[in-house]
Amino acid sequence: MYTQAMDTAAREGHASASGLAPTEREQRFEARIAAGEYVEPKDWMPDHYRRTLVRQISQHAHSEIVGMLPEGNWITRAPTLKRKAILLAKVQDEGGHGLYLYAAAETLGTSRDEMIEALHTGQAKYSSIFNYPTLTWADVGVIGWLVDGAAIMNQIPLCRCSYGPYARAMIRVCREESFHQRQGFDALYAMMSQGTQAQRDMVQDAVNRWWWPSLMMFGPPDGESTHSEQSMRWGIKRIGNDELRQKFIDAAVEQAKVLGVDLPDPQLKWNPERGHHDHGAIDWDEFWRVVGGDGPCNRDRLAARVRARDDGAWVREAAMAHARKRAACDAAAQAA
Ligand SMILES: [Fe+2]
Ligand SMILES: [Fe+2]
Repeated sequence: MYTQAMDTAAREGHASASGLAPTEREQRFEARIAAGEYVEPKDWMPDHYRRTLVRQISQHAHSEIVGMLPEGNWITRAPTLKRKAILLAKVQDEGGHGLYLYAAAETLGTSRDEMIEALHTGQAKYSSIFNYPTLTWADVGVIGWLVDGAAIMNQIPLCRCSYGPYARAMIRVCREESFHQRQGFDALYAMMSQGTQAQRDMVQDAVNRWWWPSLMMFGPPDGESTHSEQSMRWGIKRIGNDELRQKFIDAAVEQAKVLGVDLPDPQLKWNPERGHHDHGAIDWDEFWRVVGGDGPCNRDRLAARVRARDDGAWVREAAMAHARKRAACDAAAQAA
């Protein structure tokens, strides 16, 4: 319905008009990537590059939209007007991120409807972190601190992604994510530094539950990551999963000290030789179980998205009817 999709036939026509043989086209494409040039929607690109980007950008868009649900759950129960206003703005930002990203994916020739359908039928994934529940107000703070913090770490390299529309969308997204991280840290700091023992316990409990799933947000170890190598070659991905995870852990350890919370990993220790923190083993079985649909909230999250689409159908129909009526009025006015 609402789409900015480019016409695939025209794009192929554009490529053949350049008169290059397929291998030459591919070599030229690879050379442009190697030279650090951005690829734009009307440029020729290999099908696999296009499919990889559609998968990654739409998955990213779905994560933003589904990510509104766990925190949205606390808007009506935020402890003060100030925290409510901040949380409302934050959740609204996530909706905006979803929209930029759907629009970026549409420039690759896929429609919004196709992407939403793939999400609702379970063909497309979203970040597994959002399949965990937000049990207390402290969870909202911990999501800002750790989940948005991990998202920033993952997303800053995407500002240099080889596909122009995705890279440009990420620049704005990252600026907003840094506000999200700060507001989460600030909410936790208020409870830890001025709160009651019960509030401090609540923060520690939330940290205990979100720490390991946050580390899983960087994806499986590089050796087991199916898409990593090709994505690195194409400049879609710039830094490996393990390196990003390590950077996140090193930063979080220092921030946890300021907050006065313990990170729930007895093996977390500074290693002076590596210049990084060593950490305990991540439970990848849990990760794959949640990715596979068996997390605490997978069914609820998808059901909420399907319900939102169904409940909003009349708004979309009314908007289309209004647009048609207006077009008819304009045409009549011009003819008169
Ligand atoms: Fe976001
Ligand atoms: Fe965010």
